[in-house]
Amino acid sequence: MKKIIFLVLLSFSTLAGQKEALEAIQKTAMALKKELQSAMKVSPVNAIEVCNTKAMPITKKYHSKGIEVGRVSLKNRNPNNTVKDWMKETIDAYESGSNKKGYSVVRISNNQSGIIKPIKTMPLCLNCHGSNIKPEVSARINKLYPADKATGYKTGDTRGYFWATFKTK
Ligand code: HEC
Repeated sequence: MKKIIFLVLLSFSTLAGQKEALEAIQKTAMALKKELQSAMKVSPVNAIEVCNTKAMPITKKYHSKGIEVGRVSLKNRNPNNTVKDWMKETIDAYESGSNKKGYSVVRISNNQSGIIKPIKTMPLCLNCHGSNIKPEVSARINKLYPADKATGYKTGDTRGYFWATFKTK
């Protein structure tokens, strides 16, 4: 009986952590979109500066609450956004099309789990991640990210993934 209660409590806290982590991803996505949209009103080149200086601080906002959020891509722009070991299998399944879920939950260790959520390419994204990027935009991207791989995308492609980790104990 004690064991059952313990397990029920444990799965409740896991679910609560999972919910919070998903919310953290959603809030981060909204905050990034808002910054991007207002920066694009000035110009795409201006928006690159905003992505360059604000994207990381915005995604790192949750790091203090036991939840970490970030973005990764197999074709990453920021060199820090490479796929980590615990994400690899899940991301491979998304890339091959065998996983079509809106998000996936991954157990990382005894006391930590993670969420992976695909990010779709929208028309707005093509300004900086598409195939016909304006020369002045391209020049700025190449200057800030000499090893950039994040171009050549079409609307509907998976541009990358949000991830969040949360404690399960
Ligand atoms: C104004 C140019 C611009 C636009 C428009 C833009 N991005 Fe980006 N994107 C960037 C820059 C610059 C970075 C690198 C940010 C950093 O240094 O953290 C980036 C990084 C990313 C990353 C993190 C992975 C990586 O490659 O480093 C994802 C995912 C992403 N963008 C998705 C999108 C999506 C989805 C859209 C459309 C809603 C979009 N971007 C629109 C410039 C842009």
